[in-house]
Amino acid sequence: MPEIDLVCVASWNVDLIAHVASPLLRGQTQMAHRFDRLPGGKGSNAAIAAARQGARVGLIARIGGDDMGRMGLDLWHREGIDARHVVQAPQEANGTALILVFDDGDNSIAVYPGAGAGLSAGHVLAAREMLAACRVVMASFEVPLDATLQAFSLARQMGRFTLLNPAPAPAGGLPDALWPLIDVLTPNAGELAALAGLDPSLTDAQSQALAAAALLARGVGAVIVTRGSKGCCLYRPGQAPLALLGHAVPVTDTIGAGDTFSGALAAAMSRGLDLPAAMRWANAAAALSVASHGAVTAMPKLAQVQALLNSGLSAPR
Ligand code: RIB
Repeated sequence: MPEIDLVCVASWNVDLIAHVASPLLRGQTQMAHRFDRLPGGKGSNAAIAAARQGARVGLIARIGGDDMGRMGLDLWHREGIDARHVVQAPQEANGTALILVFDDGDNSIAVYPGAGAGLSAGHVLAAREMLAACRVVMASFEVPLDATLQAFSLARQMGRFTLLNPAPAPAGGLPDALWPLIDVLTPNAGELAALAGLDPSLTDAQSQALAAAALLARGVGAVIVTRGSKGCCLYRPGQAPLALLGHAVPVTDTIGAGDTFSGALAAAMSRGLDLPAAMRWANAAAALSVASHGAVTAMPKLAQVQALLNSGLSAPR
Protein backbone atom coordinates (compact mmCIF):
# COMPACT_ATOMS: atom_id res chain seq x y z
CA MET A 1 0.00 0.00 0.00
CA PRO A 2 1.58 3.32 -1.07
CA GLU A 3 1.70 6.14 1.49
CA ILE A 4 -1.55 8.15 1.55
CA ASP A 5 -2.02 11.48 3.32
CA LEU A 6 -5.76 11.71 3.10
CA VAL A 7 -8.73 9.65 2.03
CA CYS A 8 -11.85 11.23 0.58
CA VAL A 9 -15.17 9.38 0.72
CA ALA A 10 -16.27 11.04 -2.45
CA SER A 11 -19.10 11.92 -4.80
CA TRP A 12 -18.48 12.20 -8.52
CA ASN A 13 -20.65 14.31 -10.81
CA VAL A 14 -20.44 15.64 -14.30
CA ASP A 15 -21.43 19.30 -14.12
CA LEU A 16 -23.70 20.63 -16.88
CA ILE A 17 -23.30 24.38 -16.47
CA ALA A 18 -25.47 26.98 -18.19
CA HIS A 19 -24.79 30.69 -17.76
CA VAL A 20 -27.95 32.79 -17.59
CA ALA A 21 -28.59 36.39 -16.64
CA SER A 22 -30.43 35.81 -13.38
CA PRO A 23 -32.14 33.11 -11.26
CA LEU A 24 -35.05 31.55 -13.12
CA LEU A 25 -38.58 32.21 -11.98
CA ARG A 26 -40.89 29.21 -11.69
CA GLY A 27 -42.05 28.27 -15.21
CA GLN A 28 -39.57 30.65 -16.87
CA THR A 29 -37.22 29.78 -19.75
CA GLN A 30 -34.08 31.84 -20.35
CA MET A 31 -31.55 31.54 -23.16
CA ALA A 32 -28.10 30.63 -21.80
CA HIS A 33 -25.11 32.56 -23.15
CA ARG A 34 -22.52 29.92 -22.27
CA PHE A 35 -22.53 26.17 -21.61
CA ASP A 36 -19.85 23.85 -20.20
CA ARG A 37 -19.69 20.13 -19.38
CA LEU A 38 -17.02 19.84 -16.70
CA PRO A 39 -15.91 17.57 -13.84
CA GLY A 40 -17.57 18.09 -10.47
CA GLY A 41 -18.93 16.44 -7.35
CA LYS A 42 -18.10 17.86 -3.95
CA GLY A 43 -15.96 14.85 -2.99
CA SER A 44 -14.00 14.62 -6.22
CA ASN A 45 -13.52 18.40 -6.23
CA ALA A 46 -12.11 18.38 -2.69
CA ALA A 47 -9.85 15.44 -3.51
CA ILE A 48 -8.42 17.31 -6.52
CA ALA A 49 -7.95 20.48 -4.46
CA ALA A 50 -5.99 18.46 -1.89
CA ALA A 51 -3.92 16.67 -4.54
CA ARG A 52 -2.96 20.02 -6.11
CA GLN A 53 -1.72 21.06 -2.65
CA GLY A 54 0.69 18.13 -2.79
CA ALA A 55 -1.30 15.66 -0.67
CA ARG A 56 -1.27 12.00 -1.63
CA VAL A 57 -4.99 11.36 -1.94
CA GLY A 58 -7.00 8.13 -2.03
CA LEU A 59 -10.66 8.01 -3.11
CA ILE A 60 -13.52 5.81 -1.96
CA ALA A 61 -16.32 6.31 -4.48
CA ARG A 62 -18.90 4.58 -6.65
CA ILE A 63 -19.34 5.73 -10.23
CA GLY A 64 -21.41 4.71 -13.24
CA GLY A 65 -20.41 3.58 -16.71
CA ASP A 66 -20.10 5.33 -20.09
CA ASP A 67 -17.90 8.29 -21.02
CA MET A 68 -18.85 10.20 -17.85
CA GLY A 69 -17.37 7.44 -15.66
CA ARG A 70 -14.28 7.36 -17.88
CA MET A 71 -13.99 11.15 -17.51
CA GLY A 72 -13.65 10.73 -13.72
CA LEU A 73 -11.14 7.88 -13.92
CA ASP A 74 -8.99 9.80 -16.44
CA LEU A 75 -9.15 12.96 -14.34
CA TRP A 76 -8.07 11.21 -11.12
CA HIS A 77 -5.26 9.47 -13.00
CA ARG A 78 -4.00 12.82 -14.33
CA GLU A 79 -4.20 14.36 -10.84
CA GLY A 80 -2.21 11.47 -9.31
CA ILE A 81 -5.13 10.35 -7.13
CA ASP A 82 -5.27 6.73 -5.97
CA ALA A 83 -8.56 5.39 -7.36
CA ARG A 84 -8.14 1.71 -6.46
CA HIS A 85 -11.22 1.95 -4.22
CA VAL A 86 -13.41 3.55 -6.85
CA VAL A 87 -16.06 0.95 -7.67
CA GLN A 88 -17.63 1.13 -11.12
CA ALA A 89 -21.23 0.10 -11.82
CA PRO A 90 -21.20 0.02 -15.65
CA GLN A 91 -24.98 -0.22 -16.04
CA GLU A 92 -25.73 2.78 -13.82
CA ALA A 93 -25.83 6.48 -14.59
CA ASN A 94 -23.20 8.81 -13.18
CA GLY A 95 -23.85 11.64 -10.78
CA THR A 96 -24.97 14.71 -12.68
CA ALA A 97 -25.24 18.30 -11.48
CA LEU A 98 -27.39 20.81 -13.34
CA ILE A 99 -25.86 24.20 -12.56
CA LEU A 100 -27.06 27.68 -13.40
CA VAL A 101 -24.48 30.46 -13.09
CA PHE A 102 -25.89 33.99 -12.99
CA ASP A 103 -24.30 37.18 -14.30
CA ASP A 104 -23.40 38.24 -10.73
CA GLY A 105 -21.29 35.04 -10.37
CA ASP A 106 -23.69 33.32 -7.96
CA ASN A 107 -25.17 29.92 -8.85
CA SER A 108 -27.78 27.30 -8.01
CA ILE A 109 -27.26 23.55 -8.32
CA ALA A 110 -29.48 20.44 -8.57
CA VAL A 111 -27.59 17.16 -8.07
CA TYR A 112 -28.72 13.69 -9.18
CA PRO A 113 -26.32 11.33 -7.36
CA GLY A 114 -26.63 8.39 -9.81
CA ALA A 115 -24.31 5.50 -8.96
CA GLY A 116 -22.92 7.46 -6.02
CA ALA A 117 -26.15 6.77 -4.11
CA GLY A 118 -25.04 3.13 -3.94
CA LEU A 119 -21.83 3.86 -2.00
CA SER A 120 -22.17 1.83 1.20
CA ALA A 121 -20.50 1.13 4.52
CA GLY A 122 -19.31 -2.10 2.90
CA HIS A 123 -17.36 -0.18 0.26
CA VAL A 124 -15.70 1.80 3.05
CA LEU A 125 -14.85 -1.36 4.99
CA ALA A 126 -13.24 -2.78 1.86
CA ALA A 127 -10.90 0.24 1.87
CA ARG A 128 -9.93 -0.23 5.53
CA GLU A 129 -6.26 -0.71 4.69
CA MET A 130 -6.14 2.62 2.83
CA LEU A 131 -7.86 4.38 5.76
CA ALA A 132 -5.25 2.90 8.10
CA ALA A 133 -2.49 4.36 5.92
CA CYS A 134 -3.72 7.98 5.95
CA ARG A 135 -3.78 10.92 8.36
CA VAL A 136 -7.04 12.67 7.43
CA VAL A 137 -10.40 11.24 6.33
CA MET A 138 -12.88 13.59 4.67
CA ALA A 139 -16.44 13.44 3.33
CA SER A 140 -19.41 15.60 2.36
CA PHE A 141 -23.17 15.13 2.51
CA GLU A 142 -23.24 14.25 -1.18
CA VAL A 143 -22.38 10.65 -0.24
CA PRO A 144 -24.74 8.34 1.69
CA LEU A 145 -24.59 8.95 5.44
CA ASP A 146 -23.89 5.25 6.20
CA ALA A 147 -20.65 5.43 4.24
CA THR A 148 -19.54 8.57 6.09
CA LEU A 149 -20.47 7.09 9.48
CA GLN A 150 -18.46 3.96 8.72
CA ALA A 151 -15.45 5.93 7.51
CA PHE A 152 -15.47 8.30 10.48
CA SER A 153 -15.96 5.42 12.99
CA LEU A 154 -12.93 3.65 11.54
CA ALA A 155 -10.98 6.91 11.49
CA ARG A 156 -11.78 7.48 15.17
CA GLN A 157 -10.70 3.92 16.07
CA MET A 158 -7.47 4.43 14.11
CA GLY A 159 -6.76 7.89 15.55
CA ARG A 160 -7.12 9.76 12.24
CA PHE A 161 -8.43 13.33 11.81
CA THR A 162 -11.88 13.68 10.25
CA LEU A 163 -13.20 16.60 8.22
CA LEU A 164 -16.82 16.92 7.07
CA ASN A 165 -18.07 19.42 4.53
CA PRO A 166 -21.81 19.42 5.41
CA ALA A 167 -22.94 20.27 1.90
CA PRO A 168 -25.55 20.14 0.61
CA ALA A 169 -27.31 20.94 3.89
CA PRO A 170 -29.09 17.75 4.99
CA ALA A 171 -32.89 17.88 4.91
CA GLY A 172 -33.32 15.77 8.08
CA GLY A 173 -31.24 15.81 11.24
CA LEU A 174 -27.98 13.93 11.70
CA PRO A 175 -27.59 10.76 13.73
CA ASP A 176 -26.31 11.59 17.24
CA ALA A 177 -23.44 9.18 16.70
CA LEU A 178 -21.92 11.27 13.91
CA TRP A 179 -21.34 14.56 15.75
CA PRO A 180 -18.53 13.42 18.09
CA LEU A 181 -16.78 11.68 15.19
CA ILE A 182 -16.22 15.04 13.40
CA ASP A 183 -12.94 16.79 14.19
CA VAL A 184 -13.53 19.70 11.80
CA LEU A 185 -16.81 20.78 10.19
CA THR A 186 -16.76 23.31 7.32
CA PRO A 187 -20.30 24.64 6.73
CA ASN A 188 -21.19 27.82 4.91
CA ALA A 189 -23.50 30.21 6.76
CA GLY A 190 -26.72 28.60 5.49
CA GLU A 191 -25.56 25.06 6.24
CA LEU A 192 -24.45 26.11 9.73
CA ALA A 193 -27.88 27.56 10.53
CA ALA A 194 -29.66 24.49 9.10
CA LEU A 195 -27.51 22.09 11.14
CA ALA A 196 -28.11 24.08 14.32
CA GLY A 197 -31.85 24.22 13.62
CA LEU A 198 -31.84 28.02 13.26
CA ASP A 199 -33.43 30.28 10.67
CA PRO A 200 -31.02 30.16 7.65
CA SER A 201 -31.47 33.89 7.09
CA LEU A 202 -29.78 34.60 10.47
CA THR A 203 -26.21 35.00 9.27
CA ASP A 204 -25.03 37.85 11.53
CA ALA A 205 -21.95 37.22 13.69
CA GLN A 206 -23.91 36.67 16.89
CA SER A 207 -26.29 34.10 15.37
CA GLN A 208 -23.34 32.37 13.73
CA ALA A 209 -21.48 32.13 17.04
CA LEU A 210 -24.60 30.70 18.72
CA ALA A 211 -25.07 28.13 15.96
CA ALA A 212 -21.40 27.10 16.06
CA ALA A 213 -21.58 26.76 19.86
CA ALA A 214 -24.62 24.46 19.48
CA LEU A 215 -22.65 22.15 17.17
CA LEU A 216 -19.57 22.18 19.41
CA ALA A 217 -21.85 21.18 22.32
CA ARG A 218 -22.91 18.11 20.30
CA GLY A 219 -19.28 16.96 20.20
CA VAL A 220 -17.82 18.47 17.02
CA GLY A 221 -14.13 19.33 17.56
CA ALA A 222 -14.07 22.60 15.61
CA VAL A 223 -16.34 24.51 13.24
CA ILE A 224 -14.97 26.64 10.39
CA VAL A 225 -17.68 28.72 8.76
CA THR A 226 -16.89 29.65 5.16
CA ARG A 227 -18.22 33.08 4.15
CA GLY A 228 -17.35 33.30 0.45
CA SER A 229 -15.62 36.57 -0.41
CA LYS A 230 -15.87 37.63 3.25
CA GLY A 231 -13.45 34.91 4.38
CA CYS A 232 -14.03 32.40 7.17
CA CYS A 233 -14.19 32.00 10.94
CA LEU A 234 -12.93 29.26 13.24
CA TYR A 235 -14.85 28.30 16.39
CA ARG A 236 -13.35 25.96 18.99
CA PRO A 237 -14.59 25.00 22.45
CA GLY A 238 -13.45 27.44 25.11
CA GLN A 239 -11.57 29.71 22.68
CA ALA A 240 -12.36 33.06 21.09
CA PRO A 241 -13.50 32.86 17.43
CA LEU A 242 -10.74 33.44 14.90
CA ALA A 243 -11.90 35.27 11.75
CA LEU A 244 -9.97 35.67 8.50
CA LEU A 245 -10.92 38.15 5.80
CA GLY A 246 -11.31 36.99 2.21
CA HIS A 247 -8.72 37.91 -0.44
CA ALA A 248 -9.65 40.57 -2.95
CA VAL A 249 -9.54 38.62 -6.23
CA PRO A 250 -11.38 38.74 -9.56
CA VAL A 251 -14.30 36.28 -9.65
CA THR A 252 -15.32 34.31 -12.75
CA ASP A 253 -17.47 31.72 -11.01
CA THR A 254 -17.59 30.32 -7.50
CA ILE A 255 -18.51 26.68 -8.29
CA GLY A 256 -16.33 24.44 -6.11
CA ALA A 257 -14.86 27.23 -3.95
CA GLY A 258 -16.18 25.55 -0.77
CA ASP A 259 -14.79 22.19 -1.95
CA THR A 260 -11.42 23.82 -2.61
CA PHE A 261 -11.49 25.26 0.90
CA SER A 262 -12.19 21.83 2.46
CA GLY A 263 -9.67 19.99 0.28
CA ALA A 264 -6.89 22.51 0.87
CA LEU A 265 -7.68 22.54 4.61
CA ALA A 266 -7.47 18.73 4.76
CA ALA A 267 -4.20 18.77 2.80
CA ALA A 268 -2.71 21.38 5.14
CA MET A 269 -3.84 19.38 8.20
CA SER A 270 -2.25 16.27 6.72
CA ARG A 271 1.02 18.25 6.43
CA GLY A 272 0.80 18.81 10.20
CA LEU A 273 -0.31 22.48 10.18
CA ASP A 274 -2.43 23.54 13.13
CA LEU A 275 -6.02 24.64 12.42
CA PRO A 276 -5.43 28.43 12.24
CA ALA A 277 -2.53 27.95 9.82
CA ALA A 278 -4.43 25.37 7.77
CA MET A 279 -7.44 27.71 7.61
CA ARG A 280 -5.25 30.57 6.35
CA TRP A 281 -4.00 28.26 3.62
CA ALA A 282 -7.49 27.07 2.67
CA ASN A 283 -8.80 30.64 2.61
CA ALA A 284 -6.16 31.59 0.03
CA ALA A 285 -6.68 28.41 -2.05
CA ALA A 286 -10.45 29.01 -2.21
CA ALA A 287 -9.87 32.62 -3.32
CA LEU A 288 -7.67 31.47 -6.21
CA SER A 289 -10.17 28.81 -7.28
CA VAL A 290 -12.80 31.30 -8.47
CA ALA A 291 -10.63 32.69 -11.28
CA SER A 292 -11.99 30.40 -14.00
CA HIS A 293 -15.07 28.49 -15.14
CA GLY A 294 -16.12 25.26 -13.42
CA ALA A 295 -15.12 23.58 -10.17
CA VAL A 296 -11.59 22.35 -10.82
CA THR A 297 -10.12 24.50 -13.62
CA ALA A 298 -8.57 27.16 -11.40
CA MET A 299 -7.88 25.06 -8.30
CA PRO A 300 -4.40 26.19 -7.35
CA LYS A 301 -1.16 24.30 -6.80
CA LEU A 302 0.76 24.67 -3.54
CA ALA A 303 3.17 27.26 -4.99
CA GLN A 304 0.31 29.49 -6.18
CA VAL A 305 -1.20 29.57 -2.68
CA GLN A 306 2.20 30.31 -1.19
CA ALA A 307 2.68 33.14 -3.71
CA LEU A 308 -0.71 34.67 -2.83
CA LEU A 309 0.02 34.48 0.89
CA ASN A 310 3.46 36.07 0.33
CA SER A 311 2.25 38.84 -1.98
CA GLY A 312 1.03 42.19 -0.85
CA LEU A 313 -0.86 42.44 -4.14
CA SER A 314 -4.04 40.71 -3.07
CA ALA A 315 -4.68 41.96 0.42
CA PRO A 316 -7.43 40.33 2.46
CA ARG A 317 -10.69 42.30 2.58
O1 RIB B 1 -19.64 22.31 -4.83
C1 RIB B 1 -19.76 22.32 -6.23
C2 RIB B 1 -20.23 20.98 -6.70
O2 RIB B 1 -21.53 20.76 -6.21
C3 RIB B 1 -20.36 20.86 -8.19
O3 RIB B 1 -19.17 20.43 -8.79
C4 RIB B 1 -21.53 19.93 -8.37
O4 RIB B 1 -21.17 18.69 -8.90
C5 RIB B 1 -22.15 19.78 -7.00
O5 RIB B 1 -21.81 18.59 -6.45
